[in-house]
Amino acid sequence: MAPKNHTDHFYEILKNVAPELHPFINDHYSTWNLMFSVRETFSIELYQVALEQIEQELNVHFVQEEQLLLPILESYLISNQVGPSAKLIDEHRSINKKFVEVKQLFENFQKVQDNNENKIALTKQMNLLAYLVMKHIEKEDHYLYPMLSLIFTKEEKEKISLLLQINRSPI
Ligand SMILES: [Fe+2]
Ligand SMILES: [Fe+2]
Repeated sequence: MAPKNHTDHFYEILKNVAPELHPFINDHYSTWNLMFSVRETFSIELYQVALEQIEQELNVHFVQEEQLLLPILESYLISNQVGPSAKLIDEHRSINKKFVEVKQLFENFQKVQDNNENKIALTKQMNLLAYLVMKHIEKEDHYLYPMLSLIFTKEEKEKISLLLQINRSPI
């Protein structure tokens, strides 16, 4: 039996998330599918695309979650030393750290492609990075975004939507 694909539930996931937050879920969809392919196939071209996509996510999507969403979530909590915001930021940092390691491995591998040991090491670490990204996305799709959709006020959601439109529109 084929494994259950997280993105098969994309339209169901969207139903639980406020429309103003959908751009984040759309990002998740494309990134999750790419990470799924990475774990299925060893391909230098695919790894290159996947690393570029993760870098883009780190620089845009993760930053927007941390700057636009988490401060509002934190304003509803008593302590932010622990809890959903602190743990999500921890995950962002772990993914960033693993990304830097894997990018280095990838660049080294391109210099000495015939080394089978390097290929095994790269595949293992790339699969782990893809796994971390997929689990992070699944958690956000099923827990974070549905909860934010319920907690945030209409005004807060509208402000996020406006800032997303400004930040994401081509210059
Ligand atoms: Fe995130
Ligand atoms: Fe996310």
